[in-house]
Amino acid sequence: MSIKALTFFLAISSTSALFDCGKNTDCSSCTTNKCCWNSKTNTCEESFLFLGLSCASNDQTIHTYNCPKAPPANFVYTDDFGRNKVLPYIAATYGNKAQAQTCLTNRNTGAQVVGQYEQTNCSATLAISSNDQAFVVAFRGAQGLEQFLLTGLDLFTGTKCEFPINGSTYLLYHSCFFGIWNTAGLGAQLQQFKNDPTYANYELWVFGHSLGGSLATLTSSYAVYTNLFTSDKVKQVTTGATRSGDLKLAQAHDNLVPNSYRIVNVADLITKLPPKLSLDDAGTYHHRYEVWYDKNMLPNAHFEICDQAEDPSCSFSNPNWLAAEYHNSYFNVTLDSWYQNGCQY
Ligand SMILES: *[C@@H]1O[C@H](CO)[C@@H](O)[C@H](O)[C@H]1NC(C)=O
Ligand SMILES: *[C@@H]1O[C@H](CO)[C@@H](O)[C@H](O)[C@H]1NC(C)=O
Repeated sequence: MSIKALTFFLAISSTSALFDCGKNTDCSSCTTNKCCWNSKTNTCEESFLFLGLSCASNDQTIHTYNCPKAPPANFVYTDDFGRNKVLPYIAATYGNKAQAQTCLTNRNTGAQVVGQYEQTNCSATLAISSNDQAFVVAFRGAQGLEQFLLTGLDLFTGTKCEFPINGSTYLLYHSCFFGIWNTAGLGAQLQQFKNDPTYANYELWVFGHSLGGSLATLTSSYAVYTNLFTSDKVKQVTTGATRSGDLKLAQAHDNLVPNSYRIVNVADLITKLPPKLSLDDAGTYHHRYEVWYDKNMLPNAHFEICDQAEDPSCSFSNPNWLAAEYHNSYFNVTLDSWYQNGCQY
């Protein structure tokens, strides 16, 4: 090699980000410099710049959005909130209006069912709780796991479309959300309540299971995006939710709805859909914060709150995804039939 060529080579390698990643000591500077942050070893490692910015292992992320972040201090998830606030509303959505009311009454929520809003196979139940000073919207999952898996396959190849908050969601979710919000009138009903001084300080709580979890994600963020509620007045908790759209959607969602948790029962397969080739693929991406019940969901079960949106050390680390029983049972009740005995233990 001539001296000229050698000088040129040295100049290139010293200005290139390649092979220089190790100098970054935190996730934010690491990913900003297009390197891969390894959250298991807390080190910054090389990325495959030439392969279109990706990382070699599922323990790494190249997205600043996915850097570890503590959950909101003013709304820390507790098992009590999940089991005694979220669960009754989700279970209630599987019954008709009268059955939903019986369920909420038996579980002492202090809630009155206002109505149910339908679009094809998607459905939301709206209730008002004076105990909690909250409007509560809950979305049920698809009827029957088999049908859902078919829908899931459709999602895999399915078209995505833009969602107003930023980023994109799936066509099915887009049409279900706008059908329920606009056509069926959920948005107008919430607006009417908001205009009523009786409810001036009420919060908006949005819950949902499975596909309904993704609809909850769209609903809570849209309600803040359209200035119906401010971020501090909105809480969102889902069970067994699918990925709702791409990384941009997840990020926009978290900015609008920081008080947000996704509960995962052990290794629930549906929470791994739509599938992707690597955990860090930005095409479809979970939002924060995963709450992982790693063994079961019996009373006093162990859980952890995961600090990455796609967290390799949480439910992703359990490969037993094909065990379908995890999806229909949350908090040790069968979600889609509990209403049949009035949501009683
Ligand atoms: C709704 O669900 C039924 C079965 O539960 C299914 O046959 C039908 O295709 C679904 N409709 C849509 C639009 O997904
Ligand atoms: C509830 O827990 C018991 C004890 O582990 C188990 O046998 C039962 O199948 C569970 N029921 C549901 C619906 O998860």
